[in-house]
Amino acid sequence: MNRAGLRKTRISGLATYVPPRLLTNKDLEMMVETSNEWILQRTGIRERHIVDPGVGTSDLAKEASLKAIAQAGLTPHDIDFIVVGTTTPDMVFPSAACLLQTKIGADRAWGFDLGAACSGFTYALTTAVHMVAAGTHAHALAVGADVMSSIIDYKDRSTCVLFGDGAGAVVLERVGEGGFLGFELGADGSGGPQLYLPAGGSRTPASADSVADRQHFVQMNGREVFKFATRVLVSSAEAVLAECGRTIEDVDVYVPHQANVRIIEYATGKLGIPEDRVVIDVDRYGNTSSGSIPLALADAKADGRLGPGRLVLMTGMGAGLTWGSGLIEWTDGGRA
Ligand code: ACO
Repeated sequence: MNRAGLRKTRISGLATYVPPRLLTNKDLEMMVETSNEWILQRTGIRERHIVDPGVGTSDLAKEASLKAIAQAGLTPHDIDFIVVGTTTPDMVFPSAACLLQTKIGADRAWGFDLGAACSGFTYALTTAVHMVAAGTHAHALAVGADVMSSIIDYKDRSTCVLFGDGAGAVVLERVGEGGFLGFELGADGSGGPQLYLPAGGSRTPASADSVADRQHFVQMNGREVFKFATRVLVSSAEAVLAECGRTIEDVDVYVPHQANVRIIEYATGKLGIPEDRVVIDVDRYGNTSSGSIPLALADAKADGRLGPGRLVLMTGMGAGLTWGSGLIEWTDGGRA
C-alpha cells in the first residue's frame, strides 16, 4: 500500500474490555463431549469471557472506547470518525458504530461497521489510520468488538471451545515521528465456504426452519482454516516488512491474531521471531475475533513491552477469507 503523501499517524489511546463472566474448559466439559486436556493440547485455550444475556457488541465497545479516548487525553466530542470491525453487530441496523456513537456521546463523529470477521480490527485500523493520514479527520476511533457467543453453537464441540467475547479500541491522531509505517491486506473470497454463517442474511432470511437446522451458528472446516491461517500469518508479515524496508529481526513485538496457540507457534517458527517477542493471551480469552489483536496489544502494553521506538507487527486473519497486517513504530501513547 503506497503511503506517499499521507501524514504520519499514531495510536494515542488503547483500551479493552471483556465481560466478567468466565466460561472455562471445565464448564465446556459439562456441555459437550470434550476435555480440558483436548482443548489445551489442540488450542492452548483455558478460558474465555462470555456476555450475559442482553449484552451486545456496542456495550463492550463502549467500555473500551471511553477508556481509550480518556487515555488519549480527549473527550468523545473530539472524535471525528468511528469504525467498528465486527461480525456480530447488535443488529443488522443501526450499525454498532451508530449505537456506539450515541452511547459514548461522540456527537461530531460519523462512522460505520466493517465486516471482515477475525480480520475486523486490522481492516478497521487500516481504514481509520488512512482517514487521519489523509488529513481529513483529526481523531479517529478504530474498534474491534465481537460477541462471538451469540453465533456459536454450544452443542458443536468443534467450534464452541474456540471462541470468546471481547472488545478493544484505539484512538488515532497525527504525529511528527514514528507511528504507522505500512499495511498489507488481502482477501480470497473463494475460501468463503471454509468458515461461514449460513442463515440470517438476505440469501436465507431467518425462518423457523433455519433456526431448527441451527443455521444461525458458525460453520467451520477447522483443518482448512488452520492451513490458511498458518500460510497467511507468514506471507502477510513478510510482505508488510518488505514493503517497509524492515526485516523480521527489527520486530520487537509480534501481535498475531489469537485463534489457536498452535497456529501462532507455527507462524512464529516459520518467521523466525524469538518467543519472547510474541504476545500470546489466547489461553485467557480464546478467539475473540475482532477483539483479539487489540486485547493482545493491550496486554503487551500492560507488560511494558510497547516503549517508544519499538517496532510492533500485527497480523489478523479470518473468514472471508481475509487477512491484514500493520507495522507501527510505537510512540508514547496518551497524554493523560
Ligand atoms: N473435543 C474433543 N474432540 C474434538 C473436539 C473437542 N472440542 N473438536 C473436535 N474433536 C475431535 C474431532 O471430531 C476429531 O475426531 P476424529 O478423529 O474421531 O474425527 C479429532 O478431534 C481431531 O479433529 P481435528 O479437526 O483434526 O483436530 P485439529 O487438531 O485440526 O484441531 C481445531 C481442531 C482446533 C479446530 C483446529 O483445526 C483449528 O484451530 N483450526 C483453525 C480454527 C480457527 O482458527 N478458526 C477461526 C478463524 S478466525 C475467524 O474469522 C472466526
